[in-house]
Amino acid sequence: MNWLTGFLKSSVGRKFVMAFTGLFLCFFLVVHLAGNLMLYVGGEAYNNYAHKLHSNEEFLLIAEVLLFSAFALNIALAVTTTMENLRARKKSYKLVETKRDDRAMPLTSSADYTMMITGMIGLFFLAWHILDFKLEFGWEVLLEGQNSAQKVGIVLTNSTRALIYILGSVAFGIHVSHGLASACQTIGFNHPKYTPTVNIISKIFGWIVAVGFSSFPILAKFYPSLMTF
Ligand code: HEM
Repeated sequence: MNWLTGFLKSSVGRKFVMAFTGLFLCFFLVVHLAGNLMLYVGGEAYNNYAHKLHSNEEFLLIAEVLLFSAFALNIALAVTTTMENLRARKKSYKLVETKRDDRAMPLTSSADYTMMITGMIGLFFLAWHILDFKLEFGWEVLLEGQNSAQKVGIVLTNSTRALIYILGSVAFGIHVSHGLASACQTIGFNHPKYTPTVNIISKIFGWIVAVGFSSFPILAKFYPSLMTF
């Protein structure tokens, strides 16, 4: 077990774990979006999908444990790495500091900064999302006796939720458009021949996530009839 602690403590090890958990979470986003797209096929198709998902309890439990562990690891490593980068930058800044004390220290690179902000918005959205759909917190009365498709329709036609879900979907889109390319680079796809293609694929993936997920609250808000199952 010592090698594992050592690996996780090294910056290379942490980058690898971040990359693998990130790629796993991107895979989850594809599966989750595909499942949600069933709503466009119709209420019955979505309910069948939700029923199938819930009928295999062992599979669901394993998938949820893996999913939440991946989220926890990805977030914890992102926070510790950012803190370390900040401390290191502060140190090197002090070494080259001039007598002018009005000079502001740059926080991080713009990509790091974007990842931090979109990650925090995504986390805020996710907490809200789990409360809504897994725990049905605050929705007990309205969702009582409704089927899965109806529940989605009811939650997403709420204006506050529509706004939070659009914001969360766009934040996740921006986050993965950089995160996917970065993870591919970490696991070795950093050949000059492949990098431009990987970057384009990541951008397209980001757009699919942002537009795909936000389409549900947008349509629920502006075309509520589409969400009446
Ligand atoms: C905006 C459109 C979205 C809709 C309509 C939606 C819908 C749902 C629903 C209905 C569930 C409950 C599934 C069940 O029956 O157990 C769920 C769970 C979940 N969603 Fe979403 N979702 C959306 C976006 C997202 C996004 C952008 C993420 C980002 C990671 C996400 C992450 C999750 C997670 C982690 C769960 C819990 C999975 C589990 O524990 O089984 N969702 N979503």
